[in-house]
Amino acid sequence: MLIIYFLLHFLEGIFLLTITTSPEINVSLESNSSIVLNCTFELDANEGIRNVYWGKKLHGTNYNKLAEFAYKNAIYNIDHGLSLENRSNLHSFSDTSQSAILNITDVRCEDVGQYQCEVEFSVDSKGKTDRKYTDVYIQANAERPTTFSVHPNNSLEEHEILNIACVAVVGSPHGSLAIWEQNVSSNTLTLLKNTSKVFIDTDNCTSVANLTITYKVSRHNNGAKFMCSSRNKFTKEPAPAAEFGPIKVLCKS
Ligand SMILES: *[C@@H]1O[C@H](CO)[C@@H](O)[C@H](O)[C@H]1NC(C)=O
Ligand SMILES: *[C@@H]1O[C@H](CO)[C@@H](O)[C@H](O)[C@H]1NC(C)=O
Ligand SMILES: *[C@@H]1O[C@H](CO)[C@@H](O)[C@H](O)[C@H]1NC(C)=O
Ligand SMILES: *[C@@H]1O[C@H](CO)[C@@H](O)[C@H](O)[C@H]1NC(C)=O
Ligand SMILES: *[C@@H]1O[C@H](CO)[C@@H](O)[C@H](O)[C@H]1NC(C)=O
Ligand SMILES: *[C@@H]1O[C@H](CO)[C@@H](O)[C@H](O)[C@H]1NC(C)=O
Ligand SMILES: *[C@@H]1O[C@H](CO)[C@@H](O)[C@H](O)[C@H]1NC(C)=O
Ligand SMILES: *[C@@H]1O[C@H](CO)[C@@H](O)[C@H](O)[C@H]1NC(C)=O
Ligand SMILES: *[C@@H]1O[C@H](CO)[C@@H](O)[C@H](O)[C@H]1NC(C)=O
Ligand SMILES: *[C@@H]1O[C@H](CO)[C@@H](O)[C@H](O)[C@H]1NC(C)=O
Repeated sequence: MLIIYFLLHFLEGIFLLTITTSPEINVSLESNSSIVLNCTFELDANEGIRNVYWGKKLHGTNYNKLAEFAYKNAIYNIDHGLSLENRSNLHSFSDTSQSAILNITDVRCEDVGQYQCEVEFSVDSKGKTDRKYTDVYIQANAERPTTFSVHPNNSLEEHEILNIACVAVVGSPHGSLAIWEQNVSSNTLTLLKNTSKVFIDTDNCTSVANLTITYKVSRHNNGAKFMCSSRNKFTKEPAPAAEFGPIKVLCKS
């Protein structure tokens, strides 16, 4: 064991510092919720922390620094952190706490995204950097469709074309809508179309999707039902759904 330990120290680039962050945080807007970005580290005796940063992903591998932490001291980044100043608090690391915390209160839609904790430290006075990430999701459920219409909707004839339209709140992060045909006699569902395209993004962080299809009925559809379901990442089966039918199809003689 001891030999391995010493070997590690002789190899270039090896360090024992470990950083811990929550991989993901789900936050709902309904309560007085907060996003506690907690970056905790453990170090070896020959290692020392210099600075810690919490940043937010811009695009690619670019992160905007929001807050900067040094021993018993934390400040908001002058370029990107000041907008958080009135709705968050910072706790830096000290002898008793090995955590750098950015606690965002009064959560907003714009807080969604990936956050990066970057730790600058020294190993035997050589500078190194390591990083860990936290994904923040605003959690809003997909809801039962508000509209599910089938036209024409009475005395259908074989080979007639149905227009089926569905509109629903698909939550946050935005989910998808699916239209199904339900064969009542065999109790099976056939997926007709599924979309994850969102048409309206509302300002309470939830999005609305609509999906329309055309469907040519045949005599086999007599007694069938149509269904539209709405789901996202947080949906537990069965997904909220609206139903239409059973339809009656008249055979052309
Ligand atoms: C949320 O915070 C406001 C203001 O701080 C307070 O009046 C309200 O009671 C809180 N609501 C809950 C559910 O904690
Ligand atoms: C931060 O995380 C560490 C390790 O997971 C934990 O011990 C500590 O209590 C956390 N601090 C807060 C304020 O949540
Ligand atoms: C924060 O609050 C101060 C004092 O109320 C105000 O002057 C400042 O404009 C606020 N900053 C932001 C980004 O809202
Ligand atoms: C985050 O800030 C809120 C509001 O100030 C506070 O109630 C909560 O205890 C803080 N959480 C942590 C872990 O600091
Ligand atoms: C059928 O369509 C008509 C006209 O669009 C509508 O008023 C009626 O409510 C629909 N019936 C059903 C069962 O959806
Ligand atoms: C519905 O199920 C029955 C029994 O399995 C089958 O005979 C019929 O063809 C099915 N209808 C459609 C439209 O798939
Ligand atoms: C519809 O597509 C989305 C992604 O495009 C997928 O996550 C979802 O599971 C699909 N739904 C169904 C019912 O197949
Ligand atoms: C968000 O807005 C949509 C559309 O206005 C509404 O249907 C939904 O209930 C709202 N959700 C919450 C959580 O307020
Ligand atoms: C979705 O809804 C909007 C507004 O109601 C409408 O303008 C648009 O045509 C619909 N799109 C589809 C594909 O149904
Ligand atoms: C966040 O929500 C997803 C989907 O429901 C779940 O799988 C995950 O465990 C949740 N994460 C946390 C940290 O609660």
